[in-house]
Amino acid sequence: MEFISKFGVGGAHPGGIDLTKEMFLSEKINSTSRILDVGCGTGQTAAYLAARYGAKVIGLDINPIMIKKAKKRMKKYQLPVEIIHGSIESCPLEDDTFDMVISESVLAFVDAPRALREIYRLLKKGGRFIANELTINHPLAASTKKEIKDFYGFDSVPLEQEWIALFSQAGFKRINARRPNVPIPQTNQAPEFQYSDYIEPELFTVMVQHFDIMANYQGILDYRIFSCTK
Ligand SMILES: C[S@@+](CC[C@H](N)C(=O)[O-])C[C@H]1O[C@@H](n2cnc3c(N)ncnc32)[C@H](O)[C@@H]1O
Repeated sequence: MEFISKFGVGGAHPGGIDLTKEMFLSEKINSTSRILDVGCGTGQTAAYLAARYGAKVIGLDINPIMIKKAKKRMKKYQLPVEIIHGSIESCPLEDDTFDMVISESVLAFVDAPRALREIYRLLKKGGRFIANELTINHPLAASTKKEIKDFYGFDSVPLEQEWIALFSQAGFKRINARRPNVPIPQTNQAPEFQYSDYIEPELFTVMVQHFDIMANYQGILDYRIFSCTK
């Protein structure tokens, strides 16, 4: 996470911003929509939703470096997106507020049952939760799971059916999971970076280790687009 924040990686999720755009095509979004981007990172998706749809967007993130970079983005593009510092495990926002909540590569890092209860609480009745989240394609040995969790700082690495069970336990209905035919990462797209002034040399090693893990667990470490309704 330190690597992502210091390099200021925008679209730090499988498929990047192109998959983000595709994800919203089947959703009803307009200028009256209130949307919360949970773990908004540097704010690429939040900015897109505000610019493309005129939606009223709030970005929430726990990392102060991400918050600073997301605020800088909104100022640069003069977008009225509110960026707030906080945790989705215990969110400082009111019940029944949002038409849509989105999370892109966030829930594996947090206490997912707690976060999902919060997301459910924040949505209006009939509101939509759309997530692009990490999954594994089959159960892993405990030592392998530990290696992946320790490196990324994941709280959990669920299977697709375990995610669905978690969404259901939080109260969500009409739960759908799909795996678009888009590789991780999408290769025809230039990555976006917002570098910090100082980047610790160790973080370059972390980047190499990340690519090694992605190569070693290709076809095992994967992602799904989930959508569900309150
Ligand atoms: C892999 S990055 C993805 C960022 C962004 N969604 C994107 O796709 O570019 C995960 C983000 O989740 C944020 N995060 C981690 N734990 C969080 C929590 N408890 N509450 C809110 N944000 C959190 C991190 O700070 C980071 O910005």
